[in-house]
Amino acid sequence: MNFEDYRAKKILLVEDFLERVLPPISNPPSILHEAMRYSIFAGGKRLRSLLSIATGDIYFLSDSVIVPPASAIELIHTYSLIHDDLPAMDNDDFRRGKPTSHKKFGEAIAILSGDALLTYAFFILSKYPQEEEYAMRKVRVIEEVSKASGTPYGMVAGQVFDMENTDKNRKVEDIEKLHSTLVDLHSKKTGALISVAVKIGYIMGGATKKEEEFLDNYSKNIGIAFQIVDDVLDEISSQEKMGKRVKKDREEGKLTYPLLFGVEKSIEMARDHVEEAKSHLEHFGERGKILSVIADFIVDREF
Ligand code: IPE
Ligand code: IPE
Ligand code: MG
Ligand code: MG
Ligand code: MG
Repeated sequence: MNFEDYRAKKILLVEDFLERVLPPISNPPSILHEAMRYSIFAGGKRLRSLLSIATGDIYFLSDSVIVPPASAIELIHTYSLIHDDLPAMDNDDFRRGKPTSHKKFGEAIAILSGDALLTYAFFILSKYPQEEEYAMRKVRVIEEVSKASGTPYGMVAGQVFDMENTDKNRKVEDIEKLHSTLVDLHSKKTGALISVAVKIGYIMGGATKKEEEFLDNYSKNIGIAFQIVDDVLDEISSQEKMGKRVKKDREEGKLTYPLLFGVEKSIEMARDHVEEAKSHLEHFGERGKILSVIADFIVDREF
């Protein structure tokens, strides 16, 4: 099966699952459930759930075991986008090709739908899969997902570093120091959720310690590459392709790879991270093929 078919098939599984488990709009508070579903089903590459599923494939996990936790990560990711777009943060009007949650529902409901998606993710993670034999693995998954989502190691911490490093009057001096700040920022803001998506796959699959190490090295590298490419696409892509406003990071004074290194060099650096990521898959042979294709997709994507 080629990657596009694989991606389409797995996305369908995730979206079907989410459709089934998210509270229906007919249940009060309807406006909240409508807002949650609005952002979740607006599209999105579903990269994080694909990573969980493709890692699970290494261990021949069945859909019923891996699809629920893979879907939960999309709930957390979508919550992070809703909050990222708020006026108090990046103040964006478009996401996934549609008006942002606060534009459509107002700030209060946008904030609360983010809160509700985050909480719902942990409900799903603790409930599924229901077989007794996965109970201990689920607890470990919950520990890792909490760590990756919050602070000091996770996404929320990264978002604060992002804000702290936003400066419209920045002088780009001491590139080495700014680069190391940026690696830390990207690893937390974006890398942590990407890494934990892979962890979900290998924890549920029962990987060995050595395999966990290989897969962590893989995911750390694609995490950085992913945010480098997001920063590059902000400079060179269009709102039409991305479904969100572009050419904004520089204006806002965000610390990004293109700011420090320019577009060409940034793409090269992202490619280096992808190559390094793939080198850690050698141990898995054919079973690591999809993860390798996903790594290429991260840097070759145009959206
Ligand atoms: C956007 O993530 C936010 C970042 C972490 C850069 P994605 O590019 O994965 O967004 P969707 O899910 O496809 O909309
Ligand atoms: C957001 O990074 C990362 C999150 C934790 C949501 P960006 O602010 O660069 O993401 P976009 O460009 O708005 O999608
Ligand atoms: Mg942001
Ligand atoms: Mg943003
Ligand atoms: Mg961005």
